Amino acid sequence: MIRCVSCGEEYDDDEVIYTCEKCGSVLELVNEIDVSKDIFDGRRDNLWKFKECIPVDETKIVSLDEGGTPFCKCDKLGKELGVNLYVKVEGSNPTGSFKDRGMTVGMTKAMELGVNTVGCASTGNTSASLSAYAARAGLRCIVFLPSGKVALGKLAQAMFHGAEVMSINGNFDEALEAMTALALEKHLYLLNSINPYRLEGQKTIGYEIVRDLGWQAPDRIVLPVGNAGNISAIWKGVKEFYDAGFIKDLPMMTGIQAEGACPVTNAFKKGDKRVVPVENPETIATAIRIGAPVSDIKALNAIYDSNGYSETVTDEEILDAQKLLARTEGIGVEPASAASIAGLKKLVSQGVIDKGETITCVVTGHLLKDPNTAIDACTQPTEVDADIDTLRKILME
Ligand code: F0G
Repeated sequence: MIRCVSCGEEYDDDEVIYTCEKCGSVLELVNEIDVSKDIFDGRRDNLWKFKECIPVDETKIVSLDEGGTPFCKCDKLGKELGVNLYVKVEGSNPTGSFKDRGMTVGMTKAMELGVNTVGCASTGNTSASLSAYAARAGLRCIVFLPSGKVALGKLAQAMFHGAEVMSINGNFDEALEAMTALALEKHLYLLNSINPYRLEGQKTIGYEIVRDLGWQAPDRIVLPVGNAGNISAIWKGVKEFYDAGFIKDLPMMTGIQAEGACPVTNAFKKGDKRVVPVENPETIATAIRIGAPVSDIKALNAIYDSNGYSETVTDEEILDAQKLLARTEGIGVEPASAASIAGLKKLVSQGVIDKGETITCVVTGHLLKDPNTAIDACTQPTEVDADIDTLRKILME
């Protein structure tokens, strides 16, 4: 069953619907887990090991073996920050971001519904993922990208997998509005995270975190927030496992935004249930350069219900954290993902996060997604002849 998160109106699972027809709010799938957690044991460690908890037809699955991503204990960085730190590395998914989890489920639903065209607006990763899964499913794929604001790796992926890519003169929010209008006119099946099936895939990040901690929740899950789907999805996942009795505690959901694109943090700090859109959002973390997040209600509920928090970080803090994670722990992530580490650092220094807390930072996309920003942040290599005497001299300096 699909249910409106605001007014509770219910819809059939097979209705192609993105927002509530009665009140316009966002929708979610309602499902109860009626299996034992033991059934997951011994299965291949990908997203579909949890298939009983994902409400789609398993004979229609479109998968690239996503999920089952690394869960790295980061002792050096944890010690530096005074917390017990684990990093969930979502850049290890097939197209290099957590979007693949949402897309495998969304594309499976698309096959179930028998659609022939799928589409999304994207800051980059959603389009990269959708293009790959559409190729695998054999469907036509249309993506709208904000012109000049998509990192190179993501653009390469969308183009190379054969999507029809349109560069929109406008920001993400405007591109999404246009894409949604076309979806409502039934030109295509919308696979942005307003589609509740997307979040059914992404909730498995929450499943895996508690599973990886030996069926325990961390004190806190820290992650970047853009369109606000992922924080909502992860909260849904951990709550489902909590309601099923698989874990005894719930984590505090902690959403980090870039200072120039922080409607969710603004709302949180005022205690509001909805965001006031930020006009002209701007940040080096282009993945989360979003002013009007569609899942704001769900995200703020997740933060309030979990006794969580939301904070902003500057672009400089993001770039510093990106380098810190790469150089202390060997984990390469794109700028948006590093917002989680930057946020952790800031919240520890503010005393919001207590020393000794067990923290899971979700790092959402791979370093290679945005090679330009990475290269710009480094001293360029010295050019030198392959002459052993010169090279030895340089090394000894
Ligand atoms: N991190 C990365 C790397 C992302 O690509 C995104 C969103 C987020 C974090 C934020 O997640 O939107 O669920 O709050 N990227 C979308 C896209 C908007 O189009 O690829 P969110």
